[in-house]
Amino acid sequence: MDGVDDPGAPRGNAVPRWREDFPVRWDDDNYMTRRELAKFLTLGSGLLASASLLVAFIGLTRQPPAAPVRRIAGVGGLAPGESLEFRYPTDDDPCIVVRDASGRFDAYSQVCTHLSCAVVHEPALRALACPCHKGLFATADGRPLAGPPTRRLPRIVLDRRGDDLFAIGIEV
Ligand code: FES
Repeated sequence: MDGVDDPGAPRGNAVPRWREDFPVRWDDDNYMTRRELAKFLTLGSGLLASASLLVAFIGLTRQPPAAPVRRIAGVGGLAPGESLEFRYPTDDDPCIVVRDASGRFDAYSQVCTHLSCAVVHEPALRALACPCHKGLFATADGRPLAGPPTRRLPRIVLDRRGDDLFAIGIEV
């Protein structure tokens, strides 16, 4: 462009005309304004609150898995005063069912609520005894009677169907 005068070209130390029209410096352009920061924080907080509400909603509406139904034994296979060990709800969960003198059945988790040793039936005491630290639980309701345990044994809910006894749930 020989001979043509560029109107935007600097003359000497003069500031180019385009800089007068666009006075933003690139260094300053990388900074966030207070308004942008406030917007970002508000949106971020809103998203976090929404996510928390969603997680709470899912937790409240989710149904626990249904307890399985498992046959324990035939009613005639357990005489009054006897007990029988079984597994419920999985093969890794030892339980015990006790038939008292009146013929009533009570079943509990066999895991001691103190330090998880297996309790055994003591017919003479009408109790389930823990050999580890001499803990004792009532066979009638699973409450602790002696020793260090302070919590009752989880009860296995039973259902008698004809001549068979079934485990149908757990009451913790
Ligand atoms: S583990 Fe049963 S009394 Fe301690």
